[in-house]
Amino acid sequence: MNYAERPVGDDLHARIVTLRDALQKGLIGCEHLVERLLIGLLTGGHLLIEGAPGLAKTRAVKRLSAGLDASFARIQCTPDLMPADLTGTTVWRPDQGQFEFLQGPLFHSLVLVDEINRAPPKVQSALLEAMAESQVTAGNATYRLPDPFMVVATQNPIEHEGTFPLPEAQLDRFLLHVVVGLPDEAAERQILDLVEREMVEEVAAMPARLSVEEIQRARRAVANVHLAPAVKDYIVRLIVATRSPEKVPDIRRSIEHSVSPRGTLALAAAAKARAYLHGRDHVLPEDVADLAEDALAHRLILTWRAAADGQTARDLIPPLLERVPPV
Ligand SMILES: Nc1ncnc2c1ncn2[C@@H]1O[C@H](COP(=O)(O)OP(=O)(O)O)[C@@H](O)[C@H]1O
Ligand SMILES: [Mg+2]
Repeated sequence: MNYAERPVGDDLHARIVTLRDALQKGLIGCEHLVERLLIGLLTGGHLLIEGAPGLAKTRAVKRLSAGLDASFARIQCTPDLMPADLTGTTVWRPDQGQFEFLQGPLFHSLVLVDEINRAPPKVQSALLEAMAESQVTAGNATYRLPDPFMVVATQNPIEHEGTFPLPEAQLDRFLLHVVVGLPDEAAERQILDLVEREMVEEVAAMPARLSVEEIQRARRAVANVHLAPAVKDYIVRLIVATRSPEKVPDIRRSIEHSVSPRGTLALAAAAKARAYLHGRDHVLPEDVADLAEDALAHRLILTWRAAADGQTARDLIPPLLERVPPV
């Protein structure tokens, strides 16, 4: 690779780093979430963010949209939502003597789908289909969604009546599943100070918006980040370990369905984006290990027995990383 093609150290990389720092400035703690949002943006992947209400999920996505020169929509899910409320409707235009398709809120570059588990299954599958295919079908016609197109869906972990869990088999449409936790005491205090200051003055303004062309160029730079054969092998060994009982018998025993090649590709793509954000032109095993939980846990389906014992798929990843060394 000649120096001119190196993905780091150029103006574009500086713009991405500026965007990340600006996002971070208005979000106390949340480094993990900020990095994941940018990884989604840089790979063209969709994110599922899980966390209790009031943890700055909406704020984070709104800030991201403020940093992008791309259209933004927010969809608040409710049990009475219909697929056409997302995708759009075909209406009859008597004056023109023809049908016209009115685009729904999915036709935006950044779409925040709040509380996705309150939407009924038909809406969820319309959304997941649009995410997988970047298109919407209405009647006999197919409409392309914009490029870039990124969905950030939020989910409340507190189980309550009137919610519809996302079908496990469709969860792997999400590149990453990010869990946000409660802030610690110091962060809680900083949030209070920040929001108080925001009432009177503009704090942590977003920098000049990243254009669609810049997003696409950054995506190409990320795709060009070098993934060495040894790191590829590491990714594959991690994935295969979730499938083969002889490698990690105790972990494998808890797994009903293991990770598909889509998970392999997701982990590799996300690791490249993380390397780029950290200013490297090559992926390190630490990129892979850091992303393993968010890229893989939602693609693992536990056995009934493991779930009944209170295990979660996320619990399996740290021991998996321990058992499958990078080299
Ligand atoms: N880590 C944080 N940094 C800055 N503000 C925060 C943070 N956590 C919560 N807040 C504030 O708390 C409120 C709730 O945030 P919001 O984004 O609406 O939460 P969510 O979408 O997760 O329910 C907002 O006023 C937000 O500014
Ligand atoms: Mg919210």
